[in-house]
Amino acid sequence: MLVKCDPLRPDPDVVKRAAEVLRRGGVVAAPTETVYGLFAHAYSEAGCRKVFQVKRRPMDNPLIVHVDSVEMAESVAYIPPELRDILRRVWPGPITVVVKSRGVLPRCVTAGLDTVAVRAPAHPIPLAIIRELGVPIAGPSANRAGRPSPTTAEHVLEDLGDEVDLIVDGGPTFFGVESTIVDVTRTPPILLRPGPFTVEELEKFFGRIEVPPVARGLAEADVALAPGMKYRHYAPETPLVIVHFDLEEAVRLLEARGLRVAVLCVGKCPKAKHTIPLGGDLYEAAKNLYDALRRLDKLGVDIGVVPAVEERGIGLAIMNRLRKASGHREARRPEDLAAIVK
Ligand code: TXA
Ligand code: MG
Repeated sequence: MLVKCDPLRPDPDVVKRAAEVLRRGGVVAAPTETVYGLFAHAYSEAGCRKVFQVKRRPMDNPLIVHVDSVEMAESVAYIPPELRDILRRVWPGPITVVVKSRGVLPRCVTAGLDTVAVRAPAHPIPLAIIRELGVPIAGPSANRAGRPSPTTAEHVLEDLGDEVDLIVDGGPTFFGVESTIVDVTRTPPILLRPGPFTVEELEKFFGRIEVPPVARGLAEADVALAPGMKYRHYAPETPLVIVHFDLEEAVRLLEARGLRVAVLCVGKCPKAKHTIPLGGDLYEAAKNLYDALRRLDKLGVDIGVVPAVEERGIGLAIMNRLRKASGHREARRPEDLAAIVK
């Protein structure tokens, strides 16, 4: 069931209906400022289990607990006083912190860990739903496990269809990539996933942040850091290569081998039969990225190419997603391309 909802002034009837579904142990897909989430009442064991089931998410990959305030976060987690002050300044927003859990939620929410990931989304729809319920809502991105995260209600429908009790269509999401995740139980805090809240901004609040290779999408999972990292993510069916040299040259080389090529481009697109423009700047590119990956698979081409972007600001989040989507295929020089497609 899909209902439209104004993202800026959520219809109170839609909010009440969503809350009712959640109270009964159902699941609701709704936008956040990052991507669409698949939510359950955080205290409903049945609802939270249903999230895993509908998404086909392995049970050892915990959910994010979404709250409307630092006070609500304190009802499920221990928040040290210094962190409380920081969260009051950065929330609501695309920043998730991993903190010590109070152990009050169903075990499946945290996959049995003694920590919990919490965030206050900067989006009127989930905030209104949380306020209506008076308790947090737990959920991951509303995609089928292994697919790109959904940035529109159509993406949710495409992946999960009628297995979701209610899809609230609030239009396309604002940032288009998932929240930044920082584990603040460690000193220095460690970046688990780069997102719209950049490392440069984080460091203004937390001091030095450790950025492990896995957060850049370089290394394979270190399971000890974050359970979700060991799973394959954002992978289109069509092979995708990140190109660090002239994109036009890459297209020429691949086409010369008789391959049908699609180009994902930032700014000016090179001449090619299939182009998927990501936008003029990196924020637009982030916003359009997952839709572009979904479109890539529908073109029926042999290979997709995408330019490498600078790993700072939102660019770090983009490169992390691209590395996962490409299965770490990166061509630094033209010769690398030949080896990749051989
Ligand atoms: O922007 C977002 O974060 C979106 C919206 C819906 O809020 N949510 C999202 O959730 O993208 P998702 O599908 O990425 O799942 C939550 C991630 C997983 O990678 C999981 O492993 C990690 O958070 N996570 C959850 N609890 C954790 C914990 N206690 N320690 C480390 N990582 C944790
Ligand atoms: Mg996800």
